[in-house]
Amino acid sequence: MSDEMKRSDEMKRSDETPTPPDRAEPGRETAARPLPPKRAQIVLSGTKPTGEHLHLGNYFGALRQFVDLQDQHDTALYFIADYHSMTTLRNGPERRRNTLNVALDYLAAGLDPARAILFRQSDLPEVAELTWFLTSVTPMGMLERAHAYKAAIDKGEDVDHGLFTYPVLMAADILLYGSHLVPVGRDQKQHIEMARDMAHRFNRLYDCEALTLPEPYILEETATVPGTDGRKMSKSYGNTIAMFAAKKALQKSVMGIVTDSTPVEAPKDTAQAVFEIWSLFATPPEREAMLERARAGGLGYGDVKKDLFTRLMDYFEPMRARRAALEARPDEIEAILRAGAVRARALAMPVLEACREAAGVGPLR
Ligand code: TYM
Repeated sequence: MSDEMKRSDEMKRSDETPTPPDRAEPGRETAARPLPPKRAQIVLSGTKPTGEHLHLGNYFGALRQFVDLQDQHDTALYFIADYHSMTTLRNGPERRRNTLNVALDYLAAGLDPARAILFRQSDLPEVAELTWFLTSVTPMGMLERAHAYKAAIDKGEDVDHGLFTYPVLMAADILLYGSHLVPVGRDQKQHIEMARDMAHRFNRLYDCEALTLPEPYILEETATVPGTDGRKMSKSYGNTIAMFAAKKALQKSVMGIVTDSTPVEAPKDTAQAVFEIWSLFATPPEREAMLERARAGGLGYGDVKKDLFTRLMDYFEPMRARRAALEARPDEIEAILRAGAVRARALAMPVLEACREAAGVGPLR
């Protein structure tokens, strides 16, 4: 079967497959989130498949905005960054399982293949070609300043080239589709700045406008969601609260949130993670009332945690149900991702062609 035929076959299948997730989003009134005005823009973001479930940092820092923005912009692309996960995860079957899990979390959270292009990074190996184009215009010094690389070097780790060049692959992800806006948590801001620099350098060196300079989209109040130990919530710190873990496991992580040893009757330091995490599930007036009570004294941490656990279960319950229904249909998920890749390729190829043309790579004509 020719590539063209395969693609149109996939398109057809995609028309039959997707069962768009239920649009009702629970708990969406919890915080007012200003959205940029609707414009003819391309929104893009991705998530690494490095764990069994996404966590509250992924959700409030990024995924919730993905859902909001799929309606706000003309084109939204959300992918599963399986190539990126290769710098830390060296187990093929696990990567495959995690990839399915991210797809399920995406759909359960409200991403809708009818409104956004959902795909797997490695279904477009063209991104590796653009990575090379960018690599050849990226100064070593820029990559040596990358936070993740510097942190690994500071810890005396044996650094692979993949970690060093991670920001270039990420820039290629963003630039390949002509993205304007990239919703992420604060930890990704530097990567987007680097993508802008690379795009600018490529355009300047080849005297072209092949690449679009992207902007980060980061919501201040959830830019860095703290984990159970107060540091940034992150799988690598083992301080996460997963969105869809089993009830018992979730209860254990919530009750394990680290607090100071202030007695119940004493005023509390409201900058602690327990209040910040609780606030994710509260309306602004509820939050004010809680902080007031905390400052006044007489509030026990155990009660705050119990209430947080109830709110968390309630908030994610509809998504959990949706996820359970989708879990039974892995073939549909695969079809959604393949159809997404076909649509993503239609956006990618003109950009890649413009880069090839500018760089003088390809047919002599
Ligand atoms: P990843 O998979 O680590 O995280 C996915 C998204 O979740 C956000 N996030 C957080 N936000 C707030 N507080 C936290 N504690 C927290 N933890 C995670 C991340 O900022 C991210 O937005 N390199 C990326 C994946 C990627 C990508 C891209 C993103 C690959 N290519 C192109 C955007 C565009 C990463 O590792 O995210």
